[in-house]
Amino acid sequence: MASTKTPKQQRHVVATADEIGPGQRKIVTIGRREIGIFNIDGAYFALRNVCPHKGAPLCKGLQRPLITSSGVSQVAYQRENEIIKCPWHLWEFDIKTGRALHDAAVGVSSYMVQVEGSDVILYT
Ligand code: FES
Repeated sequence: MASTKTPKQQRHVVATADEIGPGQRKIVTIGRREIGIFNIDGAYFALRNVCPHKGAPLCKGLQRPLITSSGVSQVAYQRENEIIKCPWHLWEFDIKTGRALHDAAVGVSSYMVQVEGSDVILYT
């Protein structure tokens, strides 16, 4: 789940803002963790690159919109690029919160990201 910075968090310069444009992502290694940094309409989010189901590299999955249906042939596409689909068994997660779409009790670790000047900063 997205969080706010605490005094114990470590600060990592992971990219320049130009490096991760809107709709793009970058996977970085911090110690022994891989973390995906996502730019969604100019706001940055970060998720651990490990699916909580069976450990797939979640952040390498397909980014897509939230698709809802209110009935037969009634499909709506919302929140472009805010959902990531695990490449192994297709569980879907909200990139902004790390929560699974099928069960909000299931989630992947998320981290705070800020832009400072032209740098993208990840806090772990
Ligand atoms: S490992 Fe991600 S859905 Fe199974």
